[in-house]
Amino acid sequence: MSKKYKHNYTLGIETSCDETAIAVVKDGNKVVTEQISSQVNIMEKYGGVVPELSARQHIISLPILFNLCFKNRRELLKKITAIAVTKEPGLPPCLATGIAYAKGLGFGLKVPVIEGNHLTAHVCSVLIDNPEPPLKPQNWADKITFPHISLVVSGGHTTLFLVDSPTKTTLIAKTLDDAAGEAYDKVARLLGLGYPGGPVIEKLIDFHQKTKTEGCFLEKNPFTVPVTNDPYHFSFSGLKTAVRRLIFETFEKINKRQALSLDAEKIGKTLPHKIKAEIAYWFQETVIESLVQKTLNAATRANVELITITGGVAANKRLREKMAKEAAKEGIKIRYPPLKHCTDNAAMVACAGYYQFISQTGK
Ligand code: KG4
Ligand code: ZN
Repeated sequence: MSKKYKHNYTLGIETSCDETAIAVVKDGNKVVTEQISSQVNIMEKYGGVVPELSARQHIISLPILFNLCFKNRRELLKKITAIAVTKEPGLPPCLATGIAYAKGLGFGLKVPVIEGNHLTAHVCSVLIDNPEPPLKPQNWADKITFPHISLVVSGGHTTLFLVDSPTKTTLIAKTLDDAAGEAYDKVARLLGLGYPGGPVIEKLIDFHQKTKTEGCFLEKNPFTVPVTNDPYHFSFSGLKTAVRRLIFETFEKINKRQALSLDAEKIGKTLPHKIKAEIAYWFQETVIESLVQKTLNAATRANVELITITGGVAANKRLREKMAKEAAKEGIKIRYPPLKHCTDNAAMVACAGYYQFISQTGK
């Protein structure tokens, strides 16, 4: 079934949520071409992803991105060895559009279609060679050693894996309720900010850092790091509820009257920018404390020398900084992909598909 070429060119397709992406990756690590279209502007007004609307958008975007990838590279199309597509987990109507498109392309190009796991793709995103200094030391992929612990932290997942190889991952912890990115998105909404929550909360925290010398409304962290019955797992929904409660308490304190509405978003919007920034700061500190503590625990228990952080929340500056600092104390290194491969993308899907393909076929 597969074509005989000196090199493997895997075409990756990603449509599990609100990003449509197509990429071609050579031999599992070199990005030859990649295109991505985000639906963030469309979903912003709904404060989250509407699955059917998103699926319809994928159908529109896929052929456009495909043409952008191959417009001046028709010869590359002939070299494609396999197509990798996200099968699960994700929003069912969105996944279905990518799978149907991949199957059509596979049939047309006469190459196998590999259906892969979205989380495994995030785990593999650190293996992609990327010439983006200063994030990339020389031979980025060579620096990834096995086994290692991978924290996949996004809008849909907060999961720890023990990674023995790109195709052998063992789940060791997950969130029992909301994902960390989902908590950022929900808290941003409660504070009347935009979507997605992570970047807008980071920006608000930058404002807090600049203005905190002028005095603070919150003297210490009003939140506690979430505790779970099983200490290895994560939980963020209680923290989101604590933010909601704090918004009401703060409103009542500064206005010296009870809030007339029970709508936290409405009340949150009325709070002064500086106080919102303080709430965002302590919320983030609490989320990151939990992520760092549990990831380091997992790494020391597994006795590994490397932690990788992937997924949308891996773009967070404070998470990177704190994880690096705490991991260094234990003699553990950390690695994360360049920003464009932290959030959903097709290069990671192609990369994971490549390893799946060679482990199944030996080619
Ligand atoms: O991996 P991703 O693109 O999609 C999912 O599979 O969920 O991650 C999107 C999530 C959103 O919840 C977004 O708020 C969060 O990643 N995110 C961030 C940052 N950038 C994106 N969270 C914290 N800090 C950031 N800088
Ligand atoms: Zn993702």
